[in-house]
Amino acid sequence: MQVISTIEAVRTARAVYPTLGLVPTMGYLHAGHLSLVRQARQECGAVAVSIFVNPTQFGPNEDFGRYPRDMQRDLSLLEAEGVDLVFTPEPSTIYPPGFGTEVVLAAAEEVLEGAARPGHFRGVATVVCKLLNILQPTRAYFGQKDAQQTVVVRQMVRDLNMPYEIVVAPTIREADGLALSSRNTYLSAEQRQTATVLYRALRAASEHYAAGERSAAVLREVMQMVLAGEPSVQPEYVSVADPLSLRELETISHGALFSMAVRLGSVRLIDNMLV
Ligand code: PAJ
Repeated sequence: MQVISTIEAVRTARAVYPTLGLVPTMGYLHAGHLSLVRQARQECGAVAVSIFVNPTQFGPNEDFGRYPRDMQRDLSLLEAEGVDLVFTPEPSTIYPPGFGTEVVLAAAEEVLEGAARPGHFRGVATVVCKLLNILQPTRAYFGQKDAQQTVVVRQMVRDLNMPYEIVVAPTIREADGLALSSRNTYLSAEQRQTATVLYRALRAASEHYAAGERSAAVLREVMQMVLAGEPSVQPEYVSVADPLSLRELETISHGALFSMAVRLGSVRLIDNMLV
C-alpha cells in the first residue's frame, strides 16, 4: 500500500492502474467507510482512499478543530483491506496560496444540510471535484448516510461533464440502528443510547409509509413524535422530500427521502432513509 501526500506523486502512482475506485474520506475510519472500500475492491482493479479533513466544508462554529483524527489506525485498517493507494494531502497542497475557484450548487444550499450549514456544500463540492481530478478514478464511492452529499456530487459530475462514475452505497448501522459516524465518538454513554432515536423515528415513518400513508405532513409528524420522546434531543429539521430535487413533498407519489438533523447537547447527528 502506497501512502502519498503530494499531487505529482499520487498521479504517477495512479497512472499504472487501468481501473481505479476512489473512496474519499475525512479519516477516523469505521465500518461504513470500510464497506465503501470493500465495494470498490470488488468492482475495480485497484482502490484508492483519500484521507483529508477538509477545512472548507466546516462552518466557523463547527467541529473542524476537534474532528477526530488517527492516521496510524486508519492506515492499518486500509492496509488490511488491501487498499493500493492512500492519498493524505496537507491543507496547503489542496489549497495553495492563490487558490480561488469554488464549485457552487446554489439550489443545494437552500435545503436540508445546505440550509442548516451555510457554505458546507461548496466546500464539499470543491474538494470532491479536486480529489476526482487529481486521482481520475474510474468510479468514486459515496455513502447514502450523507444523502444530500450524494445528490450534490452526482449533479456536479453531470453538470461539469466529469468522466467519473458515482456509486452510492447503503448506510451501515450499529446493531441498534445508529448509523456509523466518525462523530459518534463525541457521544457520552448516555447520549449514545439516546441517539438511537433517529433510526427509531425513521423506522416509524417508513412503517406508516408501508401501511399506506402518503401525506408528507403526517409522516413528518410521526418522526417528530418519536423524537419528542427523548427530551434531550433538539430536532433541527425533519424532512420528507423528493429524493432528487430534495424539495419538501406534500404527497408521496414515487418515493421519498426521509431525513433529519438533531442536536444532542453539542453533538449534531444526521440520518436518513429512502422509501
Ligand atoms: P466522511 O464523513 O469521512 O465520509 C466518507 C464517506 O463515507 C462518505 O461518502 C460518507 O457518506 C460515507 N459514510 C459515512 N458514514 C457511513 C455509514 N454509516 N455507512 C455508509 N457510508 C458512510 O463525507 C465525507 O467524509 C466528506 O464530506 C468527503 C466526501 C470526504 C469530502 O470532504
